[in-house]
Amino acid sequence: MLIKKQTGIEIPSSEITPEHIYRTRRQFMKSAVALAGGVLLASCAPRAEETAMEESTAVPPTTTPKTEPATTTAARATADELGDPLNTFEQITNYNNYYEFTTDKEEVAKLAKDFPTSPWQIEVGGMVNKPQTFSIDDLRAFEQEERIYRLRCVEAWSMIIPWMGFPLAKLLQAVEPTADAKYVRFETILDPDNMPGQRSPWFNWPYVEGLRLDEAMNDLTLMATGLYGKELMPQSGAPLRLVVPWKYGFKSIKSIVKIDLVDKMPVSLWMDSAPNEYGFYANVNPEVDHPRWSQATERRIGELGRRETLMFNGYAEQVAYLYDGMDLRANF
Ligand code: MTE
Repeated sequence: MLIKKQTGIEIPSSEITPEHIYRTRRQFMKSAVALAGGVLLASCAPRAEETAMEESTAVPPTTTPKTEPATTTAARATADELGDPLNTFEQITNYNNYYEFTTDKEEVAKLAKDFPTSPWQIEVGGMVNKPQTFSIDDLRAFEQEERIYRLRCVEAWSMIIPWMGFPLAKLLQAVEPTADAKYVRFETILDPDNMPGQRSPWFNWPYVEGLRLDEAMNDLTLMATGLYGKELMPQSGAPLRLVVPWKYGFKSIKSIVKIDLVDKMPVSLWMDSAPNEYGFYANVNPEVDHPRWSQATERRIGELGRRETLMFNGYAEQVAYLYDGMDLRANF
């Protein structure tokens, strides 16, 4: 495995639905589900053109990898460990999911352009011996690596992204989780003044995600601070986001301000919004369809046709053991 490490990181630095329509939040959620069925997460659904792709144009299936994920120098690498080319910087930063701004993937970059990401603090606490608040400067102490990961969105599109960051395990080790800690809960900033999407009542903001502690400690789990050797841009979740490459992209929570070690399974924003469609684990699994579409294939951004989705997004060798004995249909 090729690894590039560096000691410092280059971080220099409305769709508003009128409230009166809904008497209470509970009533609102009920009416949203009743009205929409699938509309609630329509924006987390594949676009018509994606689902309409002809199977006949599909790219030949890729086999389960026997190699380590690429962790090489992004500037030099042009492909992941399976030999597929990286997506371009333009593709990665102009086709985004970031509901705090908009549900239109091609508008996120424009709307997030001036989002203030400095100063910024990340509070890490809960069941730990050494709770700490980190500034972005403090994060420079964690040795940075470049890692090339596939990102597979639950909407059945994917990209290959050369991230820069450090293993979440390093951050967790610094705060010393207690023996009672079983899960890690992550929270995005709550800033409706600067995030127009957070003024929408469709979701219980802020965005929340969670991992089991052993998933969080897995070496693949990355705190990303940059991509393509540059610091993260707001649309990608600046200044700090999670990247969990074997799980659907929605687990990779952006613009994190709070991390808590807890003993109960956290309820994520998606579990809260549509528990029948989104579970806690969200492991990429071509054998378990989303209730509204197949997960067997995906569209790689920049490619025509579709390619087969790989179990655990191609990272089974590194992570399958985490789920030994678990029913992956029940724990979706
Ligand atoms: N994090 C926050 N805070 N808000 C979001 O809307 N969208 C998720 C995830 N992280 C999201 C988020 C989804 S659905 C995906 S697929 C990825 O971010 C997309 O990451 P990208 O825009 O960098 O490709």
